[in-house]
Amino acid sequence: MESNKELDIRLREYFEWFHAHPELSYEEYETTKKIKDILDKEGIEIISYELETGLVAIVRGKKQGPVRALRCDIDALPVLEETGLSYASKKEGKMHACGHDFHIVAGIGCAILLNERKDELKGTVKIIFQPGEESARGALKILEADAMEDVERIWGFHADPTNEVGVIGIREGYVAAAADKFVVRISGVGCHGAHPDDGVDPMPIAAGIIQALQTVVSRNINAFHPALISVTRLEAGHTWNVIPETAYLEGTVRTMDKEDRVLAEKRMREIVENTAKAYGGKAIFEWHPGSPAVYNDAKMVELAKKIATCRKLQVVPQEQSMGGDDFSFYEESIPGCYIKIGTGVGQTIHQPGFKVDERVILPASLYIAELINS
Ligand code: NI
Repeated sequence: MESNKELDIRLREYFEWFHAHPELSYEEYETTKKIKDILDKEGIEIISYELETGLVAIVRGKKQGPVRALRCDIDALPVLEETGLSYASKKEGKMHACGHDFHIVAGIGCAILLNERKDELKGTVKIIFQPGEESARGALKILEADAMEDVERIWGFHADPTNEVGVIGIREGYVAAAADKFVVRISGVGCHGAHPDDGVDPMPIAAGIIQALQTVVSRNINAFHPALISVTRLEAGHTWNVIPETAYLEGTVRTMDKEDRVLAEKRMREIVENTAKAYGGKAIFEWHPGSPAVYNDAKMVELAKKIATCRKLQVVPQEQSMGGDDFSFYEESIPGCYIKIGTGVGQTIHQPGFKVDERVILPASLYIAELINS
């Protein structure tokens, strides 16, 4: 078994390469090839699944036990990097601004450590290098490839720039929201701006709908349940003296509770259709379901806390987020746990100055490897 110091040096080199070569969702060809090359060099088995990008590594333990998985997302964002790092992005306008470069190397580190300890490993571990997390649907590619069929539980983690290295955020229950999209298509009757009485103006319909949608959270959803509705786009009209025929709205709904998700869709549809009707127009409501809420299994949470404490890591309550993570698609059939790993306090994720402190890579790999093997 090699010393941890040598492994640390190697993992940091890998990290700097991935950081310098970010690729967007479903374009992770170079990234996938590099992960494959590293795993080959490190003597780790790769299972071939039908995946355009992303891949699945496997470590088969010598002892009997279940199949577990670790999810590591691999894609980057369309952000122009401003970190000033010596190994900053070589691809202008693309950046590992969500720390998925760290997720890749911690996954590789974990695979190496587990592979070294195969004799004591009970069961099998699949390390999922997942594409397209930022698209919110990359997990479905892995599920559609049948890579999860035999897996009994799954671990996930995320870089956390609100905590220093050595701090782990863990929480039982819901930790990230269901992230759904909605679209509203309003139709009225266009006319001269000076003669609104000749038509049906879609503008007051849009305004009425936007106002009324906010009552879903304030009047329909239990006040103790986190939920929000954001209208993020409104398009209508071309000029100052013509009342247009149509208006278009879209936005997002975030909920934690499964019933609230159903209720929000129902109430929004009623409000949209009936408000338009009340003003003499029509509106079509479209609901585009995204990823469900991320839910942390109680037993897995307990284990994550215990091992963090044994490893002298500081455990803090994980902040709940109204952001989503497609990790939840895996949890629709098996228990999962998604933890936050402090990567040094600094600019938040998805920002041009976001940085991961490299000192986190080895301890994170050691922690996750032990967690999976427990
Ligand atoms: Ni992320």
